[in-house]
Amino acid sequence: MDDRLDFIIRLAREAGMLAQTLRATPGGLQVGAKAPGDFVTAADLAVERLIRNRIAARWPTDAVLGEEGGLQGDSGAIWITDPIDGTANFMRGAADWGVSIALAQAGRLTHGVIYLPDHGLLVAAGPRGLVAEGAAAGVSGISDASAALVHLGYSPREAPTAHAARIGRILSAGAQYRRSGAATVGLMAVILGRAEVYHESCLHLWDCAAALVIVPAAGGQVQSAPLTDHLVAPCEVLAHSGHLPDLVAAVCGLARP
Ligand code: IPD
Repeated sequence: MDDRLDFIIRLAREAGMLAQTLRATPGGLQVGAKAPGDFVTAADLAVERLIRNRIAARWPTDAVLGEEGGLQGDSGAIWITDPIDGTANFMRGAADWGVSIALAQAGRLTHGVIYLPDHGLLVAAGPRGLVAEGAAAGVSGISDASAALVHLGYSPREAPTAHAARIGRILSAGAQYRRSGAATVGLMAVILGRAEVYHESCLHLWDCAAALVIVPAAGGQVQSAPLTDHLVAPCEVLAHSGHLPDLVAAVCGLARP
């Protein structure tokens, strides 16, 4: 296994363990809001600090983009992390949250890890392979929409009517949908073959950078904005198994001939 892949796997485990410890510690869950409905806990801040410190100690010239602290540093190597994705679930004691860490080098995402500590699931990928703990990685082979499951993400950046119309199109195509409240959880479902599609209309890079590396390594397909654009603004993100083009078109609101 290459050094950087080994490093992010260990770091994701350490970050997840710290988050779990802080959740059970008085004061660890002090909650603030960055915007209505967009929460940050003391654990989000502490876990991102841990991730930044470990990267700085090992790869001191690399830059880091984190959900809580933004972009720090100027380098062709940029680590991209959401220390606790699914904060609203995490702070309520629900299991659907995850740690996401990725690395971009020379304008390309090369490494990624998603760790869902409360589910005991970890997947990671780098140029030299795919690592999965807790379940086998590999996208679904289902090609019948009536047997398919679509995970959706939602943020107020999408108009509620547009989101409702998307759900309508999924149900009309005969498929089912879920919304877990954590992009890492929905994307993990695609990676493990437990869902066929993940879609979010306006998603930040730190929520999905790791999955953009891991989904293709697990046999699936991804679509998002070019990295230079996605580094500075959220964009539409799609991850899927590759076997349901009509359903994917319906999810995205694209007509197919
Ligand atoms: C959020 C979750 C949610 C997604 C939002 C994200 P956060 O991340 O992943 O599922 O729909 O777009 O912002 O704020 O809990 O880290």
